[in-house]
Amino acid sequence: RTQQALIRESWRRVSGSPVQHGVVLFSRLFDLDPDLLPLFQYNCKQFASPQECLAAPEFLDHIRKVMLVIDAAVSHLEDLPCLEEYLCNLGKKHQAVGVKVESFSTVGESLLYMLEKCLGAAFSPDVREAWIELYSAVVKAMQRGWEV
Ligand code: HEM
Repeated sequence: RTQQALIRESWRRVSGSPVQHGVVLFSRLFDLDPDLLPLFQYNCKQFASPQECLAAPEFLDHIRKVMLVIDAAVSHLEDLPCLEEYLCNLGKKHQAVGVKVESFSTVGESLLYMLEKCLGAAFSPDVREAWIELYSAVVKAMQRGWEV
């Protein structure tokens, strides 16, 4: 099967419950890099703990937004360049809220962790490789937001 088919099949198992899987992703992210927690502030209020953040409606909305971006990438596998401008702007917005471009590699690790938890044995080396390629393409487009 092609890489694109592997991505589509595996995403189907995740996208049915995006928030649940997004919580797994971001819990892992805060484990790997607790310094990312203060970047999420709503009404200038800082969260006291990852648990508090992961339960906040505004943060769960951010999880939905992240999953929608991945969903858009999965839907446009044959034409990722059409997302480039959107992703560059999205990168700029993240630069503006203080995200460092390096943090997106930790997000990538957390994404792979979530996929492995969700897919179990179906998370084969080929599936893993296909996701690394897709995620790299998304990050490469977002990175342009830091360059300009
Ligand atoms: C918006 C932080 C990763 C997609 C935001 C906002 C913050 C933020 C503070 C503004 C408040 C909000 O909308 O909740 C972060 C941090 C990340 C991260 C700290 C990881 C280090 C991602 C990733 C994606 C993403 C990986 C998708 C691939 C979005 C979207 C918005 C957003 C779509 C809304 C932008 C808009 O208002 O037009 N992010 N984010 N974020 N984020 Fe993230």
